[in-house]
Amino acid sequence: MKEEKNFLCNIDDIEEGHVRRAIFPDGNSQQTMILVRDDESAHAFENLCPHYNLPLDFKGDDFMHPERNLLRCKNHQALFRMNDGVCIEGPCVGKRLKVVDIEVIERKIYFSPKPV
Ligand code: FES
Repeated sequence: MKEEKNFLCNIDDIEEGHVRRAIFPDGNSQQTMILVRDDESAHAFENLCPHYNLPLDFKGDDFMHPERNLLRCKNHQALFRMNDGVCIEGPCVGKRLKVVDIEVIERKIYFSPKPV
């Protein structure tokens, strides 16, 4: 069982195809991550746009394009795929959101950084 200090949320806390903001449990309170539910799994990205290194959301938790199939940066409207964080439209096409290492164990999502 993973240490509870790395627990982020339950998979069921995120609606299918939706996202949620989470704080890094390692004390990095200045930076948040974006958790994306993908069926029974999830993806996670740093909440930093590769265009200007700004958080994607500047008002509330809305990271989504209105059609809810892409992540959107509210600053200059870059659009990112939800499964790999690659920008497909906007000022940083081809760049990607930085992946955050997570694990899903028994429907719980844990921050799980790989050793360097
Ligand atoms: S800072 Fe995200 S598109 Fe410019």
